[in-house]
Amino acid sequence: MENLANRRSTIRDLLTHFEEIGNLKDLDAILSSILKRTRQLTRADAGSIFLVEDDHLRFAYVQNDTLFELCAPNKEVYNHAKLPIDERSLVGFVGLSGRTLAIEDAYDIPTDAPYHFNKSLDTKAGYRTTSILTVPLRSSQGKLVGVMQLINARNDEGKTIPFDDDAKTLVSLLAGNASTAIERGQMTRELVLRMMRMAELRDPKETGAHVQRVGAYSAEIYKRWVLNRLQTHETLDERGTVPPQGDPDGEITRTADLLRLAAMLHDVGKVGISDSILKKPEPLSKEEYSTMKQHAFMGARLFCSSTSELDRMCYDITLAHHEKWDGTGYPGVIDDVLADPPLPKGPLASTDIPLPARIVALADVYDALCSQRSYKPPWPEERVLQEIESQAGRQFDPDVVEAFLQIHDVILAIRKKYKELAC
Ligand SMILES: [Fe+2]
Ligand SMILES: [Fe+2]
Repeated sequence: MENLANRRSTIRDLLTHFEEIGNLKDLDAILSSILKRTRQLTRADAGSIFLVEDDHLRFAYVQNDTLFELCAPNKEVYNHAKLPIDERSLVGFVGLSGRTLAIEDAYDIPTDAPYHFNKSLDTKAGYRTTSILTVPLRSSQGKLVGVMQLINARNDEGKTIPFDDDAKTLVSLLAGNASTAIERGQMTRELVLRMMRMAELRDPKETGAHVQRVGAYSAEIYKRWVLNRLQTHETLDERGTVPPQGDPDGEITRTADLLRLAAMLHDVGKVGISDSILKKPEPLSKEEYSTMKQHAFMGARLFCSSTSELDRMCYDITLAHHEKWDGTGYPGVIDDVLADPPLPKGPLASTDIPLPARIVALADVYDALCSQRSYKPPWPEERVLQEIESQAGRQFDPDVVEAFLQIHDVILAIRKKYKELAC
């Protein structure tokens, strides 16, 4: 009887998992959710996902309950290591053979086994890997999409045990669903990048790497901001809501998912600005600058008949990413973005600026200051940080600045991952 109840609850968990992943759009949020749920169902302490890229397996996501707090910004997620698909690693072996591999103790692998475990990562992190379950992730057409690795299954007492047959069955069920979701996430990311490449043809500053960085910075700043709020039990402002009850981790992942995609589109309205202004190497005249400012509501027009939460967030970000905390930004309060021209009805300031726009404002300026521009070299990191701190409470929301400074190591890892030649 107890067994039947257990099975029912496992099936319920599986269905919840499928539904949760089905609702996510951005690749990183999908990977985070796949790992979190698979680890919950198999009681694994840690796990990683590697994705196929250029005939290699690229390290794409990691979670480890012993080493890092779930949902908190974590620089290891932006590790950009790549492994060859061959027998030198367990992950490479599984990618090559297409076989699921369960190992009871990583330190007891026979020397004549056709795969090897690299102990150096354990030594570096101060961790002891024991049981490992490594599974290939294949698309419905049988193509290898990636490899998922789960580490250290735990029993009720928290003792490390081998992954049992039930865990292997569950993970193989999840792997098929995960592969489909990963392919969908990759397509969405590509679609957004293609849209941005259109904008990049118009404005060379808006490169793919810049928008990937702004998207990733924004999602991570948001996570730190919201965790700070939850720690101090403050009520969240209307557009950064996380329900106090329910599933805060799931809500944080879902909002960060939308924010990352929407932040990537912050300057999409520039497709509506003429080349003579966008590509002008000299400083803009007063008139040209006011034309340039129109990119904010031109972008918002693309999302104003909002049908989804993503549209609403894109609307808020495109319209308000040049607003300033002290009310001196643009375009100010706009009732109707479709009016031509929309008339600002006064300044927009403080928490009246939607939270996603307050976060993107900082992420975008930080990235611009660190990057080469026709009118300036990249600023050294120290000078950039001083500038941002000095603008807390003026240009930027002080709480957003605080969250940004707290995760500076993650910010640097993102910059390293999405670097471009111009930087
Ligand atoms: Fe902009
Ligand atoms: Fe930008």
